[in-house]
Amino acid sequence: MLTASADAAIAAGLFRPVRLGSLELKNRIAMAPMSRYLSPGGVPHDGVVDYYRRRAEADVGLIITEGTYIGHPSAATYKHVPNFYGDEALAGWSRVRRAVHDAGGRIFPQLWHTGSFRNSSMGPVEGVPGFGPSENANAYTNHPELSHAMTERDIEEVIDAYAQAAADAQALGFDGVELHGAHGYLIDEFFWDRTNRRGDRWGGDRRERTRFAVEILGAIRQRVGPDFPISLRWSLWKQQDYLAKLADNPRELAEILEPLVDAGVTILHTSTRRFWGPGFPEENDLTLAGWTKKITGLPVIMVGGAGLDRAGIDVVTEVASLDVLEKPLERDEFDVLAVGRALLADPEWAIKAREGRMADCRPYSKALLASLD
Ligand SMILES: Cc1cc2nc3c(=O)[nH]c(=O)nc-3n(C[C@H](O)[C@H](O)[C@H](O)COP(=O)(O)O)c2cc1C
Repeated sequence: MLTASADAAIAAGLFRPVRLGSLELKNRIAMAPMSRYLSPGGVPHDGVVDYYRRRAEADVGLIITEGTYIGHPSAATYKHVPNFYGDEALAGWSRVRRAVHDAGGRIFPQLWHTGSFRNSSMGPVEGVPGFGPSENANAYTNHPELSHAMTERDIEEVIDAYAQAAADAQALGFDGVELHGAHGYLIDEFFWDRTNRRGDRWGGDRRERTRFAVEILGAIRQRVGPDFPISLRWSLWKQQDYLAKLADNPRELAEILEPLVDAGVTILHTSTRRFWGPGFPEENDLTLAGWTKKITGLPVIMVGGAGLDRAGIDVVTEVASLDVLEKPLERDEFDVLAVGRALLADPEWAIKAREGRMADCRPYSKALLASLD
């Protein structure tokens, strides 16, 4: 455990402005995307507006919203997730955007298609199966039904839904968008060889399996122009299999990241459960965020375990020192730190970190998920 003054000195490294493509942030703290499943009817309400406003008012430089569904009937799995389509939901998001801007923050919606986590008994359009690159026979042992292997037409429609959502975000005044390309959801299912066994141009080797993400990025770029920031969140690990990995070494990682850079992604958001571990322990002690930056030269968001002593949604945690941030900061391994559970638990986390008051932060527990404090 470090002292309060040592923590404050480390946190000072986060309170420096940063530029991510065309976007200037007043500091390097982002709220990590966290689904709250508290928007009945898919519409962000006053409680959602206030929830994000509170974090922006308390010095969070960039809010990345909870995953929000793109406008395709196959996108949804979980209930009460806010939509990013339809007049009512977009009006709700517009109010969220305004509240965050009025408080001096910046905000990206996280655009989400849940892929083959869905099955056909789920709403809002029953009968629509989970969509994936291939039938998911060997990757979801507990899944009640096989996913539908997407046709060319399906792929085209889903890409268009991503592009529409990004264009809507721009029109509503958002500062950029984030694509949820991590954790085994649709974009990641195309990346991963266990879920993408296609023999056509959407499958193939590691580089070829990025085509779906690449075409989404291209379609978005066409709609929003060259400067609108697009972040892509990716992860080595899969929710379906925590030990699965997209790449076993930096060379393989480059095969995935380089096509995304060429396709015009602005920011890469590297999702890990604990950011300070080595990305590839057999190579050296560089974090995975550090590898992402080294390989691509792009701005990188790092995430996982900030301010808390344990990883996971279901755990009880205690607050932790920021000492694990010291080395990645010193070595410039990331541009922005995303803070998830610590900010969910305590809207004032950023202020308390700056003042070295980590001990005053409310620790995270699963019980906090019941409401939007
Ligand atoms: C309640 C909860 C919901 C989450 N929902 C999302 C989500 O919608 N999209 C996403 O990319 N990650 C999601 N995550 C992962 C977080 O963004 C973050 O990567 C993870 O919690 C680790 O960071 P932390 O230790 O700072 O919480 C969620 C995490 C939690 C705890």
